[in-house]
Amino acid sequence: MCGIVGIASSNRNVGPLIVDCLKKLEYRGYDSVGVAIVGKHGILIRKGAGKIDSVDEAKCLRCLEGNVGIGHTRWATHGPPTDENAHPHTDCEGRIAVVHNGIIENYMELKKMLIAKGHVFRSSTDTEVIAHLLEENARNNSDFFDVFRRTVRSLSGSYALAVVSVMAPGKIFFARKHSPLVIGLGKDVMFVASDIPAFLDFTNKVIVLNDGELGYIDSGSVYMETIEGKPIDVSSRILVVPWTAEQARKEGFPHFMLKEIHEQPLVIGETIRGFGIDYEKGAEMLVNGKNIFVTAAGTSFHASLYFALLTMKLSSQKVIPFISSEYEVYAHVASEDDVLLAVSQSGETIDTLAALRAFKQKGAKVVSLTNVIGSVIARESDRQIYMKAGPEIGVAATKTFTVQLTALTWLSILISHHTGKIGENELKEINSSLKELPSLVEKTINLYSGWSKELSNFMAKKASAYYLSRGLGVPIALEGALKLKEIAYIHAEGYPAGESKHGPIALVEKNFPVVFVSIEKSLEKRLHGNVEEMKARGAHTIGIIPKDSGLRELFDRTAILPSSNEFLTPILGVVPLQLLAYYTAVEKGYDPDKPRNLAKTVTVE
Ligand code: F6R
Repeated sequence: MCGIVGIASSNRNVGPLIVDCLKKLEYRGYDSVGVAIVGKHGILIRKGAGKIDSVDEAKCLRCLEGNVGIGHTRWATHGPPTDENAHPHTDCEGRIAVVHNGIIENYMELKKMLIAKGHVFRSSTDTEVIAHLLEENARNNSDFFDVFRRTVRSLSGSYALAVVSVMAPGKIFFARKHSPLVIGLGKDVMFVASDIPAFLDFTNKVIVLNDGELGYIDSGSVYMETIEGKPIDVSSRILVVPWTAEQARKEGFPHFMLKEIHEQPLVIGETIRGFGIDYEKGAEMLVNGKNIFVTAAGTSFHASLYFALLTMKLSSQKVIPFISSEYEVYAHVASEDDVLLAVSQSGETIDTLAALRAFKQKGAKVVSLTNVIGSVIARESDRQIYMKAGPEIGVAATKTFTVQLTALTWLSILISHHTGKIGENELKEINSSLKELPSLVEKTINLYSGWSKELSNFMAKKASAYYLSRGLGVPIALEGALKLKEIAYIHAEGYPAGESKHGPIALVEKNFPVVFVSIEKSLEKRLHGNVEEMKARGAHTIGIIPKDSGLRELFDRTAILPSSNEFLTPILGVVPLQLLAYYTAVEKGYDPDKPRNLAKTVTVE
């Protein structure tokens, strides 16, 4: 994620303003922070690892003096959260400063080229290449906007950028592709920021940039053009935002949970674009283990279970999944030839950490998948893979779950490729279906928001519900039940559908809600039998099924998922269940962002 801010004023000292605006964006990241101001004698920078208040207290970011400046609050993606990796980043001479949100995919090749030309890098971030590339392009060009435009054209990946330079001291240059960026138009002061709440105390006149737009602000004006160089009529783009600052932080959504559900296409896209060497090395370490174990807690365990099922199905490689608090018995049988995959959004969950430590004591290797760079689970593992979900504020995991599923699916595919079960052609095919995943998730959200809301009226009146599936759908059923239980406080159980007749079906009576998740065509017939068993007892059946399913006419209510590769369908299948839990909690008058008795990070055993 990361939050960026740029402020150009005719008469104000912008140091304190930038710090105040960054604090409004702290929800986008809080690993490190920094400010660059164009001062009388050049660019002044203060930055460091840590939260905004503590870095400001230690280094007085707000004391920097000048009328034009940029700032950044970081959610680390490339390089750990250190002072050196904190933004802004500069060129060799310190005449250009850059803040960036996103991932520059071609940074390695650009960095090699720039090093060959003599540029000296100080950080391990992808962002620093932009500063040096600007410097390189400015060697024979005194028009800094033209330099900026040419530089942006040679970047691939995602970016929201704000740049200042002594070569154009009154201006802040900006560009957007796949990462959000907005302009705020105040009186004698102009803003560029990742999000509207940053400047809402000063102005509610905004321009929301589209992908492929760039330009600059000074204290009294905005210039914008497309990346192809076509000027944009700025006046036709100005909006007046009617939100309060709190509403704006949620981007107009009533709760963070709903905002985060809607963010899934974006962060899944970021995650897919981030598939690289860390995944390949992680897969290699897992494949080389005699036994593969995978562990996690709660929602992360559901994603881990999916990984185990998919890997066994695709590669015939045995994977042993276990809930991390139950680690003793699994660690007891582990040896130095084994590998553990530890999955944790926060990277801090004590049970998962305990499992990791117990396996390490046995000499096993550990690969981790976390959302927080430098978290303790990441630090203590032998190989780290980072998902790119950005900070999740709602206590109930939503976007981090679908991002985990996406990341773990890719890991599983790489393992199957290593073991020779998936060939080059198939890998290419999977790659292209993965590229469609963000838009399919978006389609699913749009198709089933109204459906879930309507269903929530029924669900809110119920005391219990079952979520059933077979095979790859089981983790999704488990997750659907957990979501409903934790935020709507309805007793909900998820389990493999075949288990029904071994006990649970005793509870079923007229209008008892049973949600069926169908993923695999090969298991459809047997699932059909389980649906009939429930219907015969008067259950109200709800089907989450793929487009080509033969069960279309079977259920009382049905959500038909957009067509996709079979092992990506579970990622779509959980979306209506997240929405159902959300709307049911709201219908019952609960705050889904802060469920009772729960904490976002569980650091007690
Ligand atoms: C449920 C939820 C929890 C977490 C669990 C593990 O919505 O968020 O079940 O999944 O506490 O947390 P991490 O992934 O941080 O280890």
